Amino acid sequence: MTILVTGGAGFIGSNFVLDWFAQGAGPVINLDKLTYAGNPANLQALKDNPEHVFVHGDICDRELVRSLLERHAPRAIVHFAAESHVDRSIHGPAEFVQTNILGTFALLEEARIWAEKQAPSRHEDFRFLHVSTDEVFGSLGPHDPPFKESTPFAPNSPYAASKAAADHLVRAYHHTYGLPTLSVNCSNNYGPYQFPEKLIPLMILNAITHKPLPVYGEGGNVRDWLYVQDHCTAIRRVLERGRVGESYNVGGYNQKTNLEVVNAICALLDEARPNRKSPHSMLISFVKDRPGHDRRYAMDAAKIAIQLEWTPSESFDSGLRKTVAWYLDNPDWVAHVTSGAYRHWIEKNYANRGEA
Ligand code: NAD
Ligand code: TYD
Repeated sequence: MTILVTGGAGFIGSNFVLDWFAQGAGPVINLDKLTYAGNPANLQALKDNPEHVFVHGDICDRELVRSLLERHAPRAIVHFAAESHVDRSIHGPAEFVQTNILGTFALLEEARIWAEKQAPSRHEDFRFLHVSTDEVFGSLGPHDPPFKESTPFAPNSPYAASKAAADHLVRAYHHTYGLPTLSVNCSNNYGPYQFPEKLIPLMILNAITHKPLPVYGEGGNVRDWLYVQDHCTAIRRVLERGRVGESYNVGGYNQKTNLEVVNAICALLDEARPNRKSPHSMLISFVKDRPGHDRRYAMDAAKIAIQLEWTPSESFDSGLRKTVAWYLDNPDWVAHVTSGAYRHWIEKNYANRGEA
């Protein structure tokens, strides 16, 4: 049966849709606004697949969402669409409030109204799965235990606050209206098709073009890295077996400082693209920190491991090796996304950072 995916031309969404078809899991309606982060090229492999219906539109457009629900009667909505980059939320938070909060609200309202018109058994089987982030929990100190599902929310960036607001709305729609919701809060993803504004692809692409590698502050901030295909598996598992109304933390068990990540990328590039003059790590440049930069994220993913028997299968070494290889093997994709508007963003975010 059909599912409605939002944001399925973005990084995680497109990996999820490609995996979904690889599993033969059924038709997908893919609603995406194609912002700078949405890229139809990610879905090129599905261009002749009649089970993939791409709809260019905005989740805030309630009439459009209503008509898609009525026409396709999906068994689930898997909601990825969002503004997703912390640095952009610092420069311009309005879009984050619009899409992440009001867009999620629009989807929830239309899903509620539509689901309430269905027969009771159909309503019961319907799922609204919201994809959220570890950033809603705030920042950890070096010795704090990882975030659990019960950790109180303490978002610090406009991005994190907008995702936290969406999480609260999802919770309220289950509690008040009985909408069968599920939430996944996951740590930093990496892998193929990630837009190169985020740490890992930015560093790979800067390094192979011999540009400086801009590490914020001293590079000691810690993230828990999750290979995107492991995240996709987790989402499918939660969709099929998750307990309605609950949230699941998903993490990679890979806590690394940013400097460790950048050095690991440089070492892989030294192997794959040796630079005769100097190692790639010589390009590392410490720049002015991000305001309000969260020090550490780490996920306690015991609940999903025990209840749903999900653990990640990729190690950081194997996942990073695949990721670096993917960016080296896909120069056309890279050339397309790094042209035009991307350059303006790089200028805006990095021009005034100087040295740390
Ligand atoms: P992304 O920025 O790569 O893609 C977002 C997609 O949403 C794009 O295709 C964009 O065109 C689309 N979109 C944006 N606004 C829209 C709107 N109003 N209507 C319809 N489509 C719209 O993001 P991502 O990294 O793939 O993240 C997907 C989801 O996972 C987001 O909800 C994000 O908050 C969450 N998440 C991401 C990470 C990560 O490391 N990337 C970690 C935790 C959670
Ligand atoms: P990012 O990929 O933007 O994800 P998030 O902020 O959602 O965790 O950044 C990951 C980490 O890398 C974060 O601590 C900020 C840092 N970072 C840099 O040091 N330099 C950069 O150019 C970027 C984009 C991020």
